[in-house]
Amino acid sequence: MVNYKELGLVNSRELFKKAVKGGYAIPAFNFNNMEQMQAIIQACVEAKSPVILQVSSGARKYANQTLLRYMAQGAVEYAKELGYNIPIVLHLDHGDTFELCVSCIEYGFSSVMIDGSSHPYDENVALTRKVVDYAHKYDVTVEGELGVLAGIEEDVKAAEHIYTRAEDVEDFVKKTGVDSLAISIGTSHGANKFKPEQCTRDKDGILVPPPLRFDILKEIEKRIPGFPIVLHGSSSVPQDLVKTINHYGGNLKDAIGIPEDQLREAAKSAVCKINIDSDGRLAMTAAVREVLSNEPAVFDPRKYLGPARDKLKELYIHKCKDVLGSANKA
Ligand code: G3H
Ligand code: 13P
Ligand code: ZN
Repeated sequence: MVNYKELGLVNSRELFKKAVKGGYAIPAFNFNNMEQMQAIIQACVEAKSPVILQVSSGARKYANQTLLRYMAQGAVEYAKELGYNIPIVLHLDHGDTFELCVSCIEYGFSSVMIDGSSHPYDENVALTRKVVDYAHKYDVTVEGELGVLAGIEEDVKAAEHIYTRAEDVEDFVKKTGVDSLAISIGTSHGANKFKPEQCTRDKDGILVPPPLRFDILKEIEKRIPGFPIVLHGSSSVPQDLVKTINHYGGNLKDAIGIPEDQLREAAKSAVCKINIDSDGRLAMTAAVREVLSNEPAVFDPRKYLGPARDKLKELYIHKCKDVLGSANKA
């Protein structure tokens, strides 16, 4: 058992308090390998942004729990070496069982999500409460979820959004003692968030997806004023990356994300954590495809993972500065 404080990590409590007050959101970037971790830390140090290093249960299996513990400690030291001691949270993304949350806490996580959103309400409350009681003993913060995002969340597949019911949030927060709440207002996981037929076209013919349900967000904020809100599924699916991937042999169809101006708008509210994974995957894939296609003789992984890391870094700096507003908040 190692406590995250020994690793130099922080939990999310203070970061969220400041973010809600300051009208910005902390980036929660998923990672599962060294290059992604390097890009996140390089970008957030350069932007002077606090950051949440986010690990799904699949990513944990992929990377190995012991390596992740040392990678997170390494991230803290790496940031210092780069010249700025940014606050770093190590967070479990979409934890689905009490046991997984316990194990992550034992391996140095400073924050966990228990995602009981696919269970009936009372079961979600009971499971979330159990995780909170355990996590708070170690000063680990807990994110819960109400409502279901369309698409795939770990092993749970939903055809339609089940928007968060604003009338439930006060009761859920009170009964569970969670530190933050993920809500469903129209975002979804992956690179295909909307079908083209759900979108309209702007004057340049660019597809414009239906807006997020800011009315539900407002109603939620009315009921739990200032309480930290989390948005999952918040990749914007940059079309230049999609074009690059497809140009160099990829086959992504109807890839549509959440427009950045809507995320900027959300970040000004009590939304204080915005989850981004797919955009990073697209950036890496675009860079790797471009190198391998232009230079077919390359077989040194550094020759394509290096450019992929640079592309990721550029993307993350942009997110901090221009979308979430977290630059210079560390
Ligand atoms: O919410 C989902 C995240 O993008 C993590 O995805 O389970 O494929 O690692 P993953
Ligand atoms: P995206 O698939 O939109 O990047 O969402 C990631 C996420 O919500 C991780 O929990
Ligand atoms: Zn998610």
